[in-house]
Amino acid sequence: MSETLTSPSRKASGTLVVNRVLVSIHAVAIIGQPVFAGGYLGGAYDMLSLHRLGADAVSFVAYAQLFAALALWLVRGPRWLFWVSLLLAAGETAQYFAGLAGALDLHIPLGVALVTGMVLTTVAVWRPQTWRASR
Ligand code: HEM
Repeated sequence: MSETLTSPSRKASGTLVVNRVLVSIHAVAIIGQPVFAGGYLGGAYDMLSLHRLGADAVSFVAYAQLFAALALWLVRGPRWLFWVSLLLAAGETAQYFAGLAGALDLHIPLGVALVTGMVLTTVAVWRPQTWRASR
């Protein structure tokens, strides 16, 4: 059996805290995106620059989260967060270019999926995690 519940080391617990904080910041940032987009579509055209700024922030945090999730894997933490973060970072990269290209038929549904994915990830990362035993 590879997955075992054990007490994590202090370093491992700290790495989980960093991951939880990053995932939560990421969720707040991505939830802001449809808000700014809605303002823009409603006629507040300066909201597009906030959406653009938000896109840079979301992308930055997505890549930071990916590295943090890798660190969590390396301290024998859960591996699922790395794969989920990789999927989200890839989706957000596609989302960024779809936004720049004005491809709203892809950008809007992908945006809804990414926001949903981030909310579910945030709930999941704050739940108790499974640690792998050292061999
Ligand atoms: C549900 C979420 C989202 C909605 C509804 C949404 C909607 C929009 C809309 C309406 C535009 C304007 C497109 C145009 O005028 O042609 C836009 C542009 C853009 N979006 Fe999003 N978006 C969402 C999430 C995101 C996310 C998560 C990112 C980044 C990862 C992003 C990155 C961009 C970029 C880079 C642009 C181009 C901005 C510019 O031209 O200055 N969007 N988005």
